[in-house]
Amino acid sequence: MKKLQCIAVLAITTLLVQCTSSPADKTTATVLDTAALKAAYETTVDNKAVQLYILKNSSGVQAAITNYGGRVVALVVPDKNGVMTDITLGYDSLNHYRTRSETYFGALIGRYGNRIAKAKFSLNGKTYQLAANNGVNSLHGGPKGFHNQVWDAVQKDDHTLELSYVSKDGEEGYPGNLTVKVVYTLTDANELKIDYEASTDQATVVNLTNHAYFNLNGQGNETITDHILTIYASKYSAVDTTLIPAGDPVTVEGTPFDFRTAKQIGKEIAADHVQIKNGLGYDHNFVLDKKQSNGLEKAASVYAGSTGILMDVFTTEPAIQFYSGNFLDGKLVGKQQKAYGHRSAFCLETQHYPDAPNQPSFPSTTLEPGKKYLTTTVYQFGIQK
Ligand code: BGC
Repeated sequence: MKKLQCIAVLAITTLLVQCTSSPADKTTATVLDTAALKAAYETTVDNKAVQLYILKNSSGVQAAITNYGGRVVALVVPDKNGVMTDITLGYDSLNHYRTRSETYFGALIGRYGNRIAKAKFSLNGKTYQLAANNGVNSLHGGPKGFHNQVWDAVQKDDHTLELSYVSKDGEEGYPGNLTVKVVYTLTDANELKIDYEASTDQATVVNLTNHAYFNLNGQGNETITDHILTIYASKYSAVDTTLIPAGDPVTVEGTPFDFRTAKQIGKEIAADHVQIKNGLGYDHNFVLDKKQSNGLEKAASVYAGSTGILMDVFTTEPAIQFYSGNFLDGKLVGKQQKAYGHRSAFCLETQHYPDAPNQPSFPSTTLEPGKKYLTTTVYQFGIQK
C-alpha cells in the first residue's frame, strides 16, 4: 500500500484534504476530512436538525450525504492509479447550498423531476397551479421542492442511509400527502444504489430522481466534453425552446443524439441541429430501450480517459435526462474554491418523461392512493484501462 502524505488545502473553506501519493508523483488524491466536513453541515433548518452522513465500502469508496435535500455532497472513488477522486460537484458547507445560485447539486428531486409546462396540470378534472420557477414552466418540484427540505435520516450501518420525508397536501401546489422514503446504499461492488418509495392519500403526480453533477476527471476539472458516453436509447424527446417535450419521442438515428455507440460528449455538441440549439447543448430526455418495463437495466455508461473512471447507470425508470452542464458558466464557485466552468459537469437523471402530467401519450406519472411508487437507480464505478 502506498503511504499518503496529506496537507490541508485552503483549510478554512475547504473540507477536503489533498494528498500526493509520493513526492515524485504529481497526481493528487482526495480523501474526506470527515470531522471537518460534518461540522460544516451540523445546523438547524426549519426547526429540524441537519447533519452529514458518511457511507463507505471495503474499497475505500466514500459518499457524504446530507439530509438537507438528501444531497450527495461528495463521492470519492479510485481512479486507474488507485488515487481517490471526488467526482461530484457541490459546495463546502450547508450554507453555500442554501445561498449560491445552482441549487440542485447532488439533491433528491421531487415531487416532480424536470419540467411541467406552464407550471400547471389537471388531474381528475381539477387544475393544479405550481410555481413557475423556470420561465413559464415549473422545474424540479418548485423552489421549495424536495431538494430544499430537511429529511428525517437514519444511518443503518456504514453502507446504508435511510431518508424519509412527508410532503403535505398542497405543498408546492401538488395534491395529496405524499410519504417518501429514499435509501442510499454504498455496496462493496462500488455501487451507489438509490431506492425510492412513495405513497399518497390522494391521486397525485410523482417523478423522483437524484441530481448529481459528475465530472469523472474529478470535480472542478475544466470540462466533460472529453468523456465518452453511451446511452441505450433509440429515441429522445425533442423539445421546444422552453425545454418542454414537443410531442412523442423521435428517433436518434442520424442525429447528434445517437449515443447508442460510445461517443465523445463534445463530438456533436455544437452541431447545427435545432435540438442542440434549443437545449444549448444536451438537455434532453432519452427514452431507454428496455427489455422489461420495470427491470433494473443498464441505461448509460460514461468514461473519462485521463482518470480511467467508468460510471455505469442502471435504472428501473423508462428514461434518463442527459444534461451537459450548459448553464454552468464559471461564475459559480464550488468545492475547494473551484470555479465551475461551462460544461464542467454532466447529469444523468433517471426519470419518467418531463411534462408527463400534461401529455397523455407519455407513461403515466400518476400515483393513486393504495399504490406504491417504487424505483431503483444504481451508479456503479469501475476502471476502464
Ligand atoms: C435540467 C436543466 C437544468 C438543470 C438544473 C436539469 O435537469 O434539464 O435544464 O438547468 O437540471 O440544474
